[in-house]
Order: sequence, then C-alpha cells, then structure tokens
Amino acid sequence: MKKLILLLCMLLIALPVVAQDEEEEEGDEDMMVMMGDWETCPTPENLPEEVTIGAVFSQSGNVSVYGIPQTQAVEIAVAEVNESGYLGEGVTLNVVFADSAGDQEQAIAAMTQLVEEEGVVAVLGPTLSTEAFAADPIANDAGVPVMGVSNTATGITDMGEFVFRDSLPESSVIPGTVAGAVEILGLERVGVLYGNDDDFTLSGYDVFIEALEENEIEILGEETFARGDVDFSAQLTNLLSDEPDALIVSALAAEAVQIIIQARDLGYEGPIIGGNGLNSPAIITQAGEDAEGVIVGAAWNAASDNELSLAFMANFEEYTENRPDQFATQAYTGAWLMATAIRCADSDDSADIRDALAEIEDFPSPLGYFSFDEDRNPVHDPVVQVVVDGAFGILGAEDSE
Ligand code: ALA
Repeated sequence: MKKLILLLCMLLIALPVVAQDEEEEEGDEDMMVMMGDWETCPTPENLPEEVTIGAVFSQSGNVSVYGIPQTQAVEIAVAEVNESGYLGEGVTLNVVFADSAGDQEQAIAAMTQLVEEEGVVAVLGPTLSTEAFAADPIANDAGVPVMGVSNTATGITDMGEFVFRDSLPESSVIPGTVAGAVEILGLERVGVLYGNDDDFTLSGYDVFIEALEENEIEILGEETFARGDVDFSAQLTNLLSDEPDALIVSALAAEAVQIIIQARDLGYEGPIIGGNGLNSPAIITQAGEDAEGVIVGAAWNAASDNELSLAFMANFEEYTENRPDQFATQAYTGAWLMATAIRCADSDDSADIRDALAEIEDFPSPLGYFSFDEDRNPVHDPVVQVVVDGAFGILGAEDSE
C-alpha cells in the first residue's frame, strides 16, 4: 500500500510528462506532451469500465533481475494510463501478473492461467525468449495478442500473427556491437563462450558468429555452458590460453556475472563483449569492478537524452529506488503500446487490439519514436555500451568529446 501511495504521489508530480527533443521548440518551455499518442485516435467511447491485460514475467529465480524491474515498470505505466484517462472517462486498465520464474513449464502454466482462466484481452511478456517459445502459442492459438518486451531471440514473431515484440532482436543489435568494438578496439582474435541450452543465448551465439565472420575476426576457440552453471573456470582457462583480444559471451545475467568475475580472477583484463543479457544493473552491482570494460549491445541506454526516457527514469527511480534497465524501459513502453492499441481499437476484443497494435507508427516513447515492421518486430536504433566507472556509457563517446 505504501508503494501504491508513493506511486500515486509521484504521478501527481510527474504526469505532465515532457515532450521528446524533436517536439521541443526553443522559447516554448510550456509546451508539454504527456506519454501516449493522444492525437492519432480519439478518446474511446465503447470500452467497458475495466479492461484487463495479463503480464507474464520472471518474478522469481535468478532471472528475476529482469522480471522484477519489468513488473515495476508496467505498474508505473498502468497507473499513468489510468490517472491520465487515456482510455476514456471511467475506464480502468487492469493488469494481472503471473510469475514464469525463468522456466518453460511455469511460463506455459502462467500463460494458460491468464488466457484461459482470467480471460485477459492481451498479454505482455514472458521475460525470456525460451519461455516465449513455450508459452506464446497458447495466446496465439486463442487469438490473444502477446507482446514480448524482452524477447530477443531470432524467430519470436514467426510464432503467429498475434505475437509482437518491442524488444530489438539480437540480429538488430549484435552486428553493430561487433563492428563498433572492432573499429574502436581493433580486435582481431577472440574466444567465444555461450549457453547451449537457452533459445536466447543460442540465438546470440549464432548472430555473434556471423558478425565475427563478417568482420573477419579470427575465432580462437569456442566453449559452452548450461543455465544454472556456476563454475566456468575450465572453459575460461581454455579460451584464455590462446590470449584472445576479447571474450565474446552469450549469457543471461546470473551466469554472466560469474563468467566476468572468474575471467578476471584468471588474470584476464581485456574486453568482455555480450548481448543484452548483460545489460542489467545486476552485472555492475554483482561483478563490481570486474565489470569495467564489459561491452554490451542494447536497445536503450540510461545516457539517452530523450525527454520521455529521462521522465521514466526519474519516476522509476523514485518508485523503486533503483535505476531502470532496457528490460524495464521496454516493459514500460510495451504497456503504453498495449494501452494505445486498446484506445485506438475502442474495443476490448482481442482481434481488434491485435489489428490496432499492428497499425502503431511513430509512437513517442523512451525508446524513441516506435513502430512495428510488417513482421511485428520493433524498428529503432540500437546502442553499443561499455561499463566505465560503474555505469553503462556509450562505447566511443569519450572519443567524440
Ligand atoms: N533477451 C533475453 C531473452 O530474450 C532476456 O531471453
């Protein structure tokens, strides 16, 4: 209850969310634009008093470093939607959360509960691609739109016409990460370590290999691990014996933290390059100084000067006492996108919401102006980050200062 009161107080202060850069005009400081697209569609007139969506996030287990911030971000978005009257006078957006715990079977149970028992009209999540591949077909087959807000493996939206994501796939991020690292650090030879039992880490591995080959980088060795492993010393010893210029790591956060710490313990001081699994504050808080020099491709960075991003970061920090990461930012944006589809559909029919989602174009968000492509994947630019002085900065930014 204390948290809810805090959130409502924050909203009173923070709801006149400011416009994005492009919309600000010099000398017009009063021009404020709230989160949401208020112009494209009129205020709905045909919605019931309550519209209920579901959210499947990994709220427990070692991937809760992603799922808990996602839950908090959706709570913030839904409170804003309701407080601002985005769905019309007297219409409340509800969200029912279900914990997938980083596990395929629990994701299936959570999705089944939301779609078949709760009768939600749309779903956000699940957190992991591996969970999505198991659970999304339940929503898709029931004609309920499901939007991944952190699924980045190849092929997520191929599951069906009702499957969307606002999270950039690995294939949109990693090639730029590798090219940027090669250009700035002059890499020539690398070792590769990847999880071989998870759809996201396998997908990241495939995309990394393709990008390394594209950049004519020599792969000195490859090693694998499984989710839940805690000792990586044998694999790291093998890879480091070849003296690579960088370590390429396709891992989720829990395993990545141990890989980073153990690589440094073995005396390795060079760059460690990963996908978005490493784009969590947990990497920095848990690996500490060992995380310095970690390079991560991502959909969003805290250094963004996008005004909606700054406003979300301030609200999130006030609500949670933590900084948001890309997973929270995508979840927040995803909840607003879903609310926008409901507003534009002026209907709580799942098929109408699906069609309205597919139509969304240039939605102003903390991720930038957001659109889906024809395959229901997001269209916006990625960033390449590096950990410097205990924070994610933009790789190469110091060179351009
Ligand atoms: N991006 C990670 C995944 O897709 C969390 O599983």
